[in-house]
Amino acid sequence: MKFPAWRQSLVRSLHVQRSRPESKFFQVASVSPTGQINNRTMVFRGFVEDSLDLLAITDSRSDKIQDWQTKAEAEICWYFVKTREQYRIRVNVITYQQADNHVRNNIYTNLSKNAKAQFLWPTPKVPIDNDVLDGNSTSVDEENKDVFQTPPSNFVVVRFVPSYVDYLHLCEPPQNRELHELIDNKWLVTKVTA
Ligand SMILES: Cc1cc2nc3c(=O)[nH]c(=O)nc-3n(C[C@H](O)[C@H](O)[C@H](O)COP(=O)(O)O)c2cc1C
Repeated sequence: MKFPAWRQSLVRSLHVQRSRPESKFFQVASVSPTGQINNRTMVFRGFVEDSLDLLAITDSRSDKIQDWQTKAEAEICWYFVKTREQYRIRVNVITYQQADNHVRNNIYTNLSKNAKAQFLWPTPKVPIDNDVLDGNSTSVDEENKDVFQTPPSNFVVVRFVPSYVDYLHLCEPPQNRELHELIDNKWLVTKVTA
């Protein structure tokens, strides 16, 4: 499969900055059921094999899952410091939570123990009672050995399916900006002023 120019460029940006862990962090904006815009950082977990689709993981208890149940769309904003490139990627969102999903199982198997342990954290956004917290430091290792073998039910793989990419390269003037649109299954590129 021949990939569109934006994907080749993104792979190059990732390669150039592979020694910087923060190059894998992107921001993902969604819209809540009441129209509120929500934005957060997520970790890029690779492409779906032979595809343009981007992978991330999350917890089914988090707000973004509710947002995507109402409107399964997002915008990713990804800035690469070293090369001064910004990718704004409009995506449709697919979530995988079923036990027999092989993409989900593979990603889980390759997670670090610390990353896996996050899925045992308490429900998000519950007000904290400091007294209870102080007295209750449970050991994840002792009580939840199984969870490190099999994905817990709240472990969700998110697949972002791109439909539009706004690429900006901050370089010597004139700046380089390209709009990549998916039209009738073909990627059309327009170079525009920044
Ligand atoms: C560097 C960094 C990386 C993060 N990576 C993820 C991630 O991959 N998945 C995720 O769900 N949350 C990740 N988070 C936490 C989110 O930014 C956010 O706080 C959390 O998911 C709750 O978001 P929500 O309430 O909008 O759903 C990360 C936060 C930081 C600072």
